[in-house]
Amino acid sequence: MLTCLKFVVLLLLLSSRSCDGLQFNDIDEEVELVAQSSRYGSLWPLPQKVQLSDVSFKLTTSSFRIVDAKESSAGPSCKHLTFLNFSCHCVIFSTSTFVLWATSFEGNECDAFRDQPTRLETFSQLVYKDEFGTKNINQTTISDFPRFAHRGILLDSSRHFLPIKVILANLETMAMNKFNVFHWHIVDDQSFPYLSRTFPQLSQKGAYHPYTHVYTPADVKMVIEFARLRGIRVVPEYDTPGHTQSWGKGQADLLTPCYAGSKPSGAFGPVNPILNTTYDFMTQFFKEISTVFPDAYIHLGGDEVDFTCWKSNPDIQKFMEQQGFGQDYSKLESFYIQKLLNIVSTTNKGYMIWQEVFDNGVKLKPDTVVHVWIGGATDEEMHKVTGAGYTTILSAPWYLDYISYGQDWQKYYKVEPLSFNGTEEQKKLVIGGEACLWGEYVDATNLTPRLWPRASAVAERLWSAKDVTDISDAFNRLSAHRCRMVERDIPAEPLFSSYCPHEYKGV
Ligand SMILES: *[C@@H]1O[C@H](CO)[C@@H](O)[C@H](O)[C@H]1NC(C)=O
Ligand SMILES: *[C@@H]1O[C@H](CO)[C@@H](O)[C@H](O)[C@H]1NC(C)=O
Ligand SMILES: *[C@@H]1O[C@H](CO)[C@@H](O)[C@H](O)[C@H]1NC(C)=O
Ligand SMILES: *[C@@H]1O[C@H](CO)[C@@H](O)[C@H](O)[C@H]1NC(C)=O
Repeated sequence: MLTCLKFVVLLLLLSSRSCDGLQFNDIDEEVELVAQSSRYGSLWPLPQKVQLSDVSFKLTTSSFRIVDAKESSAGPSCKHLTFLNFSCHCVIFSTSTFVLWATSFEGNECDAFRDQPTRLETFSQLVYKDEFGTKNINQTTISDFPRFAHRGILLDSSRHFLPIKVILANLETMAMNKFNVFHWHIVDDQSFPYLSRTFPQLSQKGAYHPYTHVYTPADVKMVIEFARLRGIRVVPEYDTPGHTQSWGKGQADLLTPCYAGSKPSGAFGPVNPILNTTYDFMTQFFKEISTVFPDAYIHLGGDEVDFTCWKSNPDIQKFMEQQGFGQDYSKLESFYIQKLLNIVSTTNKGYMIWQEVFDNGVKLKPDTVVHVWIGGATDEEMHKVTGAGYTTILSAPWYLDYISYGQDWQKYYKVEPLSFNGTEEQKKLVIGGEACLWGEYVDATNLTPRLWPRASAVAERLWSAKDVTDISDAFNRLSAHRCRMVERDIPAEPLFSSYCPHEYKGV
């Protein structure tokens, strides 16, 4: 996957003298009052190689056109340029030529279109307005590819329902930051907003509201297509056997009845791992999920299973005895997960799982992606998971639902995903990471400002070269990048005392 994401963008401007008359100075001086200007302009995340020049060109319809280089394997698609506010049809070649040159795809196994949005994003970041409001671009040569293939954002639509509009706006912002995986933590204990065709009662009973707080098949399709057009994969997470309280409301006997003494207490625990009906349900459910979501991976969760309820249940105790598990309930968890993984394998999907599943010694398919999230001994865990030969993604240092006073983006920025002790082979197994925005204290009112531009710090760490670590240059570019988001009507919160040329106007 890493190889097919590689690309090269060469921005080449050829022009007559008549084009470079206008300079970008007044606005620049004002901006310096709040942030220094970087020699890399407002590029974010920083490309692998970039050479900016002082030769500037007016980006006007009379002097500019976009052409496909002969070498290009995927020509620019006009509709992706509409955010620059000129249409391809009226861009006429006269005095200058802009060549967007895409090449260096290693292998044809993936959709060449996938990287197109990131190239166009770089192009748009080079465009700036002069004092008359005319769009300019400087002659620039860029050679670029992402350091890590998996650059994700996790959103949680269970703790709070997230309206589709918010999800789409977030996908747009992800594209601006070159994230390419939307990890949709779609259901959890609190609610089940996913409307299943096979088991409609799951959302009918388990959503906060059966009609207003659900994702219909059409909604899900829209999210997937909107993401695809921006080069973003959608990986859904259906977390079991814990985190499933909402599932139990619409699916009788799925959860384990907890006992108080010798009688059921009326409460329910994790998925009941000892019933055949549980596996019949999972087979049908994941058959549906595997057709609804086209991505090659499904996230199966597997984190934070509370054993208290299993321990209280006499039928479970008996089963433990029969299986020879003793009092080790993690063996029961593994028994369940193993059967689930076998079920999902028959759908021809790969799976991602939270680190506990690996820690508990469950037998995993070799292509399993282990998601490391527990802080504290993260380096040790990365060492262990990659040492066992599994592909890994990192989230532990990037839990953006935690907030604090000050510039905490720097903390996220300073993370080095490969800092753990390991061989070259082990490090190659780390395919990237995800910033997680858990939803306990997040809904549509605060999602965007809480996530952006803090997640932008993670975006650069996962995209740019390892040695891109200069905090003050990052601050300068990120300030400008944040203002660009604001100019595009995205309420990204400020980094520090400052102003933007175009402030957010609210709605
Ligand atoms: C673009 O070129 C102008 C001169 O035409 C120069 O003042 C400015 O610094 C350049 N911008 C960048 C980001 O290199
Ligand atoms: C796009 O260009 C048109 C015509 O030049 C102008 O009226 C409009 O305000 C521009 N829109 C934006 C978002 O810059
Ligand atoms: C559950 O399935 C197993 C294996 O297919 C079978 O041996 C067992 O009898 C089934 N149990 C019940 C209660 O149907
Ligand atoms: C790193 O891992 C290797 C192999 O597991 C081990 O021999 C070595 O002592 C470790 N080094 C550190 C600094 O932990």
